[in-house]
Amino acid sequence: MINLEGISPFAKGGNRKCFVHPDNPNRCLKVVHAGLLEKIIKNKPWYKKLRSKNSFDDNLREEKAYTQKALKKDDPNLWKHLAKWHGMTETTIGMASETELIRNDTEIAETLESYLFKNGLNDEIKESIEDFHVWLRTHLVFTKNLIPHNLVLKKEDNRLIIKIIDGLGSQAFFPISNYSTFFANRYIERRIELMWSRINWDLSGRQGNWK
Ligand SMILES: Nc1ncnc2c1ncn2[C@@H]1O[C@H](COP(=O)(O)OP(=O)(O)O)[C@@H](O)[C@H]1O
Ligand SMILES: [Mg+2]
Repeated sequence: MINLEGISPFAKGGNRKCFVHPDNPNRCLKVVHAGLLEKIIKNKPWYKKLRSKNSFDDNLREEKAYTQKALKKDDPNLWKHLAKWHGMTETTIGMASETELIRNDTEIAETLESYLFKNGLNDEIKESIEDFHVWLRTHLVFTKNLIPHNLVLKKEDNRLIIKIIDGLGSQAFFPISNYSTFFANRYIERRIELMWSRINWDLSGRQGNWK
């Protein structure tokens, strides 16, 4: 069991605390915030309360998402834009997901959101976003909506490579297995369209509804 007692997370999202693995600086451990699942369920309407507590757990959602059809292919290019998955790991503060920690040398990679706030939508990042979209269309990897704070930037050969670190899976209405290529293409096109909406919304001071 990994001891995370007294260790500060390097980041916190809405759902999880993120730690550098104490025994491996290139691994990230994410633990769902204490009490979060109970709070989510308390605020759901009765028909959603019927779903099990596990169905609201982001680590379990992600574990399942990494088993999706697209990721079963033996193609190293598949992992170009995705943090690698290393399973679930028990810690002293709860079950953690263990994934590749994206770094640039010693620093933990910055999010696309932070980059855009600092630099705007310049040619360098536009190219990275286009590359990422080509990859999505090629491999048909399913994600929830692609939000800039769930994507980080890895520097490779003087380019910035977008990596998904959160949000793998699918929107609730779309089954992650058992779909036709036609619907898969449509689903991916919609995620790309919404990613642009979200970027433009972030950059224009977040007025109105981003969708
Ligand atoms: N594998 C990773 N590599 C680098 N940074 C990460 C990684 N995972 C998470 N982060 C950082 O931690 C933040 C929160 O993580 P995230 O998985 O999005 O949590 P949540 O599920 O609560 O939204 C991210 O916005 C990012 O800055
Ligand atoms: Mg997140």
